[in-house]
Amino acid sequence: MGFKTLEWKKGKLYLLDQTKLPLQEIYIACSTYQEVARAIRDMVVRGAPAIGVAAAFGMLLGARQSKSRTPAVLKKHMNHVARALISTRPTAVNLVWAAERMRAKFIKNLIRGKQVLLQELENQAVKILEEDLKANQEMGRQGQILIPDGVSVLTHCNAGALATSGYGTALGVIRAAREAGKRVHVYVDETRPLLQGARLTAWELMKDRIPCTLITDNMAGWLMAQGRIHLAITGADRIAANGDVANKIGTYSVALLCRAHRIPFYVAAPLSTIDLSTERGEKIPIEQRASTEVTILQGKRLAPDAAKVYNPAFDVTPHRFISAIITERGIVQRPYRSNLKKIFFGATTDDDQKLIG
Ligand code: MRU
Repeated sequence: MGFKTLEWKKGKLYLLDQTKLPLQEIYIACSTYQEVARAIRDMVVRGAPAIGVAAAFGMLLGARQSKSRTPAVLKKHMNHVARALISTRPTAVNLVWAAERMRAKFIKNLIRGKQVLLQELENQAVKILEEDLKANQEMGRQGQILIPDGVSVLTHCNAGALATSGYGTALGVIRAAREAGKRVHVYVDETRPLLQGARLTAWELMKDRIPCTLITDNMAGWLMAQGRIHLAITGADRIAANGDVANKIGTYSVALLCRAHRIPFYVAAPLSTIDLSTERGEKIPIEQRASTEVTILQGKRLAPDAAKVYNPAFDVTPHRFISAIITERGIVQRPYRSNLKKIFFGATTDDDQKLIG
């Protein structure tokens, strides 16, 4: 791959600064939980699984920073650290998931002494990072069977190595299809307003010599009408219990275009992105971001000064438009409510179900 999205080295979390790509490959070092929280908020690190992993190390750094002498004070401090990390980006459930896993480890080891506690937390954060990489590789292995030889695939935003510990979710499936010897070409939506497709997905696919073509977001429909896109695959920030998927703004439009053109629309996401406690998509909190992301591009104003702007970072695709959800434990098909539950709690889905789309 030639780069590491996140790396834990000698007590510091190193993050590839994604706000600088593709022009510069710069790593920033975080030694406090506040620095990790800022990096997540400013999108130095982004993508649901990657911010989950970053938050796990943020919890570790928060525990290291504490000078508290009693378990009760330390517990209060860690609740504060968790809240600070979780509040940075409200849509991706991986943040909550990782912080909760770290908190559980913390509670379990709270009375074992500071040194043991910190070691246990470090082991847990490293485990979360390594498990994410493994989950992506497994997702790729399972999901690549959905990618026929010789197809052109549309993807939106960046659900690649840059959005995870490595390999990627949606891009991981494409990587695995290529590793299985299939010819795959990728159409990359540029993904306004922050251009994760143009800046990040095109960069990482080109680094890996995966054939790709960059398009603006409004071109996909016309390409589908011409038969030039055969399927679409994206990642997810949160999957509700009924299979509704929150992902980068514009994903819903891609899913609708796929439906209109009878093209499969797949979502690839690890189990850490599935939130069974959220009943359906309408309940997923949608992050609203600064208007300047829309009005200013690379320091240049694109719109009138006082222009009113709406800038939701994510949208929700209703489950009925999703052909299948690829996880590290298998491919989930309809009915999503029961099959997501089965896969989440360890079973596989019914073998005899057919793919829809
Ligand atoms: O705002 P971002 O860049 O963090 O949004 C990222 C996405 O929407 C990804 O598609 C999603 O997190 C899945 S990444 C494997």
